[in-house]
Amino acid sequence: MEPVAPPKTYRVKSFGCQMNVYDGERMAELLGTRGITPALEGEEADLVILNTCHIREKAAEKVYSDIGRMVKAGAQAGKTPLIAVAGCVAQAEGEEIMRRAPAVSIVVGPQAYHRLPEMLDKAVGGERATDTDMPAIAKFDALPARRKRGPAAFLTVQEGCDKFCTYCVVPYTRGAEISRPFAHLIAEAQMLVEAGAKEITLLGQNVNAWAGEDDKGRAAGLAGLIHALARIDGLVRIRYTTSHPNDMDEALIAAHGEVDKLMPYLHLPVQSGSDRVLKAMNRQHTVEGYLRLLEKFRAVRPDIALSGDFIVGFPGETEAEFEDTLRIVDAVRYAHAFSFKYSPRPGTPAATLDGQIAPEVMHERLHRLQERLGHHQFAFNQASVGRTCQVMIERTGREPGQWLGKSPWLQSVWFSGDHAIGDLVDVQLIEAGPNSLQGEPVRIPAELAR
Ligand code: 5AD
Ligand code: SF4
Repeated sequence: MEPVAPPKTYRVKSFGCQMNVYDGERMAELLGTRGITPALEGEEADLVILNTCHIREKAAEKVYSDIGRMVKAGAQAGKTPLIAVAGCVAQAEGEEIMRRAPAVSIVVGPQAYHRLPEMLDKAVGGERATDTDMPAIAKFDALPARRKRGPAAFLTVQEGCDKFCTYCVVPYTRGAEISRPFAHLIAEAQMLVEAGAKEITLLGQNVNAWAGEDDKGRAAGLAGLIHALARIDGLVRIRYTTSHPNDMDEALIAAHGEVDKLMPYLHLPVQSGSDRVLKAMNRQHTVEGYLRLLEKFRAVRPDIALSGDFIVGFPGETEAEFEDTLRIVDAVRYAHAFSFKYSPRPGTPAATLDGQIAPEVMHERLHRLQERLGHHQFAFNQASVGRTCQVMIERTGREPGQWLGKSPWLQSVWFSGDHAIGDLVDVQLIEAGPNSLQGEPVRIPAELAR
């Protein structure tokens, strides 16, 4: 490749999960330490980072077509942007990307992006750079201080997965489970709060597998970390995602009854309502075990909003097994959920199983599942009408004077009034839609507000 001028502006495009959003922010901060600034809206950036996701279909194809589009847009603007591919497609298909896409200068995996500045130097010198090593802790140690503004922040506490569900690429792209040290997390959370965060969502592919030692050297799990974070002044809300049923311990369940700052929301994927399918997925839990777990959460926090992930059309899934999934949805009455068609991922055990399901069958099942999930989500929102709760404003709404925020149950709530982003407003929920609620700020009498 030809040497190029050092980039002055960048754009990070993150796809997929919240961990990628977090990684994207940290890459941006890293570029900031080099004096590289975000490209303005509508402007072609000197450096584009595609922070990719490999979890489902066509991710790699999308990367190639994005690259093609960027090269074209750059040419029209009279420049050749430096292109970096990061994230899980980079990890899984780095060599292939380098071979197929000559316009790409940098391929950097999710555990190596702290080395981005050196790779950038190489790329500016005209040399292509690839790094898909997996020394995860080194990455966090090498990143600059947090500069995040805005009331809701993410904090990656755990990465990777040892579960090896038979459909999933994560154990291969993100590597083995690792937990960041307690002290580092408390320090990063404090930095985020000083930078304006009022809510922190703890992230991990198996966030509830987080394990460490607290400041007194005692063994701690995620519950211990949450108790410690709750002691940070100025931090008002704590959330965590995503959990695996088998890593759930009693302390974390109890924390939902003990820690006021821990929001009444649990994302606990189940994937299927059939024990046979769960076994074929290597989920290592049963429907019964999962439901018992949820009952424990409801016992300590009766208003908890439950959320899950579902896959339809796993190889061999029969109509009756699919109906078992509809049954678990009706039994749990999820407040929110994500649902997907099974997508064979290269290199995963399920990809080569017999009984792959026809696309139209998957399509029809997904439609029926989403109809049930939508019904329960709407019902949950309707049941919230009349409640008064705190809403944290995250954005401006569509109309002037309108604000959009989140309820404790992670519902989107909009309302009007004289407020600002980051305000925590006592709001009465007055009308429910399928995906959001309308609220009305309430004035709490001074003697009750204390
Ligand atoms: N096909 C479809 N959905 C998948 N997920 C993970 N791998 C696949 C796949 N191969 C879904 C699971 C998981 C969520 C993050 O993505 O539901 O919980
Ligand atoms: Fe993938 Fe299963 Fe690990 Fe979740 S628990 S990341 S679905 S292998």
